[in-house]
Amino acid sequence: MNPIPLLQIALDYISLPAALAMALRVAPEVDIIEIGTPLCKAAGMEAVRAMREVCPDKLILADLKCPDVGGLEAQMAFDAGADMMTVIGGAPLATVQAALDVARQRGKEVLMELTGVRDIIARAQEWRQLGVERVVYHRGWDEQAANREWAEDDLVIIRQLIDMGFKITITGGITVELLPFFQGLPVSIIIAGRAIHQAEDPMATARKLRSAIAHLWGTSHNDTVALSSSDMAAEFSFADTAAKAIRWGVSEMGLLLTVDGRDCPGCDSPTRFCQGTQTDIYTPKGVTAADVVQGMARIFGQSGAFGQVASNVFFLDPARLSDPPPKRVLDLLNATGNALRQLGSQVDVNAGVGVANRILRSS
Ligand code: 5RP
Repeated sequence: MNPIPLLQIALDYISLPAALAMALRVAPEVDIIEIGTPLCKAAGMEAVRAMREVCPDKLILADLKCPDVGGLEAQMAFDAGADMMTVIGGAPLATVQAALDVARQRGKEVLMELTGVRDIIARAQEWRQLGVERVVYHRGWDEQAANREWAEDDLVIIRQLIDMGFKITITGGITVELLPFFQGLPVSIIIAGRAIHQAEDPMATARKLRSAIAHLWGTSHNDTVALSSSDMAAEFSFADTAAKAIRWGVSEMGLLLTVDGRDCPGCDSPTRFCQGTQTDIYTPKGVTAADVVQGMARIFGQSGAFGQVASNVFFLDPARLSDPPPKRVLDLLNATGNALRQLGSQVDVNAGVGVANRILRSS
């Protein structure tokens, strides 16, 4: 079954109080709150900070459409409390890489915004190589004003992007009436801005959009609600299950996780705040992350699926396995445990691999 797309409201406001008031009105019916580009420019990262205050349990996206200085802008957005930020598709690869590096360190997400990109598939291949996972397929406001309609060609490109492994957000004048056009495409997130906040009854419109999404993508509204909340990992891709297996597996080995420089509160905690598929792990006392990574490379071979985050933190990310069947995920865990044991740490490799195996089997 395809995952149910999450609903994101775009708050393209220039007044922060008005945006906050609208967010509070519709929050129960949306999954993600977007600080629109105009609001980012008008109010800066204070908008993200304030939104995080008033909507602590929602995913927040800062639509910076960042063109340069990617690392700093990503850091600003995540420091302010955003879960995701956007980089504009025309940005140099170095900018994409810089934003991604920060996002990976912090367990956050970068989305590539396709507004104005003409050679989408060629660029997308480059982004994929960098490890970009999400793209925003967009019919911009000015294009809409110039009568650009959604067309079959858009579906073809979106399908190609999905086939390349991207998680897709679609946006640009999306209404309830337009949704059936996208039915059948396993998109990840659907954004509606003006359709909600300019409606006579924004809450009712958001609810209608959500119900229509649930209906068209094939499940009950309750399932959609269960998929939403602050748990983006509830998208049923294999990578997400594998990430869960890794988190639980390393915890069972006796290792401690960290998210965004803070101690992880655990998957079952209502305050969990991890995102994406990367798990950051503290090294046991007396062991450096560089040593763990070196040891793993000897056992597992070179791979983008593990690496160093800080001197005492390394990461595992099953989404970056070139060949990710369950066995490789277990191999990755085995390599982690065995590398640590070789470095003198008392970790329970079998217990960790056992738990991960159960999670992978039950998915
Ligand atoms: C404009 C944007 C908007 O947030 C996006 O187009 C969604 O808004 P709407 O649903 O009102 O078109 O990114 O650049």
